[in-house]
Amino acid sequence: MRKVVYSRYGGTEVLEMVEQPSPTPLLGQVLIDVKAVALNPLDWKIYEGQMAFVTGSKFPRGIGIEFAGEVAKAGPAVGRFKPGDPVFGMLDPFKGDALGDQVIASEQQIHLKPPTLSFEQAAALPIGGLSALQILDDLAQVGKGTEVLINGATGGIGTMATQIAKRRGAIVTAVVGKRGVPLAMRWRCDHIVDRSSQDVLGLNRRFDVIIDLSDKLPFAASKPLLKSRSVYVNAYPNPKDILLGYIHNAVSQRKRRILMMKPNAERLELLGRLAGDWLEVVVGTTFPMSDFRRAYSETKANGSAGKTVFVVT
Ligand SMILES: NC(=O)c1ccc[n+]([C@@H]2O[C@H](COP(=O)([O-])OP(=O)(O)OC[C@H]3O[C@@H](n4cnc5c(N)ncnc54)[C@H](OP(=O)(O)O)[C@@H]3O)[C@@H](O)[C@H]2O)c1
Repeated sequence: MRKVVYSRYGGTEVLEMVEQPSPTPLLGQVLIDVKAVALNPLDWKIYEGQMAFVTGSKFPRGIGIEFAGEVAKAGPAVGRFKPGDPVFGMLDPFKGDALGDQVIASEQQIHLKPPTLSFEQAAALPIGGLSALQILDDLAQVGKGTEVLINGATGGIGTMATQIAKRRGAIVTAVVGKRGVPLAMRWRCDHIVDRSSQDVLGLNRRFDVIIDLSDKLPFAASKPLLKSRSVYVNAYPNPKDILLGYIHNAVSQRKRRILMMKPNAERLELLGRLAGDWLEVVVGTTFPMSDFRRAYSETKANGSAGKTVFVVT
C-alpha cells in the first residue's frame, strides 16, 4: 500500500510517497481502507518542525490525522466493527499517519459514518468539530445570548463553532474572507465582517467571548473588543503564551485561554449525530492523494472556505 511519509523536518519537498506492506491490526485495533483524509494546519506545523518540542526527532513519520474509509479487517477483541463498515475518526494529533491507502486505528478512535455524509465530509468533521465543542463548552461557556466574535469563522474549526454557537442562540459576529461571506449568511450570523473590506479592530463593539482561529488577532490587540469579564481564546499553543496566560488569569477578571484539542470519543459520536442532522460539514477543495505536495502548498498559501480533503482511490 502507498503511504505519504517524511524523514526530516522541512517544506513540502520532504514529503514522499512510499510503498509499505499492509499492517496487521492487533488487539482492539481495526485496519481501514482509507477513502478520504482531511488536511489540517497542524499537519504542516508538524512536518515543518514547528512542533518539534512535542514531536521529537523520530523518523520516518506519517502525516494526516482525520480520515474516513471502510473497515478492511478487525483485530482480536474488536466488537463494534466488521469488514465493510463505513467509518470515520481521528488518530492522536501528534502521531498522524492516515494519508495512505490503509491506516490502523483503535476501536475507540473510530465511529460509524453517518449515512448522509460523504467520506470526504466525514473525514473533515473530527478536528474542527471537537475543537469547536472544546472552545464553546470548556474554554468559554457560549450559550443563549452570549456575544461572540469568531475570527476565521469559515475555516475548519470556524465552520463548526459558528454553526453550533448560532444553534445555541449566541449572538455571533463572523469575521470571514470574501469567499466565506455566503456561508456566514447561510448560517444567519448576526453580524458579518468581510475582512477584505473591513478591519475587525474598527468595530465599535465589545464581546463576551473572542475566538481567534487565524493566529493573527493576539490577546493584546483584541483588548478594545473585550468587556471587563470577557474570555479570549486562541488556538496556537506556545510555551510563552501558556505561561503568560496563567499569570494573567490569576490577577485579571478577563481570561485568556488556549485550545489544546483532545480526542474525545463521546463528543465525536455526538458530532456524527449532529452532522447527520443539521450540522453542515463544508468541504472546500479536494485533491487526489497523489497531489499531496500541491495540496499542502496551495492550502497553506490560499486557505479554503471549509476544509481541504484528499480523496484516496
Ligand atoms: N491547539 C490545538 O489543539 C489546535 C487544534 C486544531 C487546530 N489548531 C489551530 O487552530 C487554527 C485554526 O484551525 P483551522 O483548522 O480552523 O484552520 P483553517 O481552516 O486554516 O482556518 C483558519 C481561518 O482563519 C482565517 N484567516 C486567515 N487570515 C485571517 C485574518 N488575517 N483575519 C481573520 N481571519 C483570517 C481563514 O480565512 P480564509 O480561508 O478566508 O483565509 C480561515 O477561515 C490553526 O492555526 C490550527 O493549527 C489548534
